[in-house]
Amino acid sequence: MRRKLVAGNWKMNGSADSIRKLLQGIRDGAAEVAAVELAVFPPAVYLGLVEQQLSGAAIAWGTQNLSEQASGAYTGEIAGSMLLDFHCAYVIVGHSERRTLYGETDDLVARKFAAARKLGIKPILCVGETLDEREQGVTEAVVGRQLKAVLDLEGVGVFSDAVIAYEPVWAIGTGRNATPQQAQDVHAFIRAQLAALDPSVAGQTRVLYGGSMKASNAGELLSMPDIDGGLVGGASLDAKDFLAIAKAGC
Ligand code: 13P
Repeated sequence: MRRKLVAGNWKMNGSADSIRKLLQGIRDGAAEVAAVELAVFPPAVYLGLVEQQLSGAAIAWGTQNLSEQASGAYTGEIAGSMLLDFHCAYVIVGHSERRTLYGETDDLVARKFAAARKLGIKPILCVGETLDEREQGVTEAVVGRQLKAVLDLEGVGVFSDAVIAYEPVWAIGTGRNATPQQAQDVHAFIRAQLAALDPSVAGQTRVLYGGSMKASNAGELLSMPDIDGGLVGGASLDAKDFLAIAKAGC
């Protein structure tokens, strides 16, 4: 049985003050949703604050990106070993905003995935098609290609412990979520790709849905057989909304 994971991607939002309040709110309600695993992804500069404030709580944390390099002259980058200093359990790689706004290729995302895994940080690999691609009927080709870049570099075994997030680009921040059936179809496709290589790994991999997930649609999405949680953007910036999504997964 795969334990559901509800993860909050805060993107480039918040301040020390607002993050303190948000974390307190999540901590206060976490016991009520203990059936679900919770994780938060703050901007990296707040990791110290997050680690301090979540000490002793059953809530994981990580960052929204990492460097594919181990260390050295890479101005502005953050190495996986630095994330370990702050006890990050997870790191998001290949978010569509990184792919489209910062030019991250499938190959670079795969190398970031490998860098995290090598250090024992669980990568959350984001995949997803644009509206254009969906309308052209190439959703599976795009998602399959994004996944294959990691499978080719790392093999299928790593997915027993890694997480995949299906985030249709057209549903991110738009208020327009994929229907539970649209999401389930792609999640089943992703699992089938893994199962073709190793059925037992495929049964263990958690595949999250992301894209305008909120309390009002989370119940239906999370009840689909291949949806193992959510990667939540906007609604994760409010403790009550975030916890309500987690509650829907309990
Ligand atoms: P929204 O929930 O704001 O649509 O963002 C989804 C997302 O990109 C999570 O990584």
